[in-house]
Amino acid sequence: MENIVPYYQNENTVLYNLDCLELLARIPENSVDMIFADPPYMLSNGGFTCQNGRMVSVNKGKWDQSKGFENDGAFHNAWIEGCRRVLKPEGTIWVSGTYHSIYQCGYLLQKNNFHILNDIVWFKPNAAPNLSCRFFTASHETLLWAKKEKKAKHTFNYHDMKNGLFPGDRLKKENTQMRSVWYIPAPKNEEKKYGKHPAQKPLDLLLRIIKASTNDGGLVLDPFNGSGTSAVAAALTGKRRYIGIEIDGAFCELTKKRLEKTALLAGPVP
Ligand SMILES: C[S@@+](CC[C@H](N)C(=O)[O-])C[C@H]1O[C@@H](n2cnc3c(N)ncnc32)[C@H](O)[C@@H]1O
Repeated sequence: MENIVPYYQNENTVLYNLDCLELLARIPENSVDMIFADPPYMLSNGGFTCQNGRMVSVNKGKWDQSKGFENDGAFHNAWIEGCRRVLKPEGTIWVSGTYHSIYQCGYLLQKNNFHILNDIVWFKPNAAPNLSCRFFTASHETLLWAKKEKKAKHTFNYHDMKNGLFPGDRLKKENTQMRSVWYIPAPKNEEKKYGKHPAQKPLDLLLRIIKASTNDGGLVLDPFNGSGTSAVAAALTGKRRYIGIEIDGAFCELTKKRLEKTALLAGPVP
């Protein structure tokens, strides 16, 4: 993209420190194979959670504060529209979130003519306990997987999912179809050794998503790059190209460090 200086670039990866709405408008239309979007949850609004046995306020950062239901919806609609424009007709999009955001996003995906393929439950076996003891402990996030055009042939690496090895997932039996509930613990300490992001996703989650829905040479886009988990996973999966967009410079720096040390982070890709 002309006249935009990336924050970081290597052979297959480019990271921009920008608002995704601005950059999405500059990316050529129908050019991206797969999008992974992990937008703000809009849940940092004064609640409490438990961290290392202590009660702490839920405050992931200003980026995660709700601006009210209608404004949050308008924001989600804007980035979903931008993503639709840049996706190839046979491209797919993943959106992750909790109930604070995922129903709005699911509605808006459908309103923008995406066709939902799956809603995946990512079960977190080591989720924080519920402090109020007045309702159930939140222990999952939802991942929506949708295709741009209902009739187009999208990529699903069925056999890799069925026959691949997923040693940490206690729900996945060998040589059986991959189901829609995934057992994946929170990021390991070694994934956080270059700095912390309050919403960092486990590398195993992004490796599974990228392996399932892209092929060699495919272009992956993440408009909410955060700590760069999808960037690292794309690099480890090999032969995928990657565009990341992140509004916060500190998280771009963290991503850069992770990418520079990718080989040390997770070892060889299974
Ligand atoms: C839920 S986090 C993503 C976490 C990421 N998946 C990871 O594994 O680290 C959302 C990220 O989006 C960024 N963000 C929020 N609004 C943005 C915008 N308009 N454009 C680009 N990035 C944005 C936030 O700074 C935050 O890092």
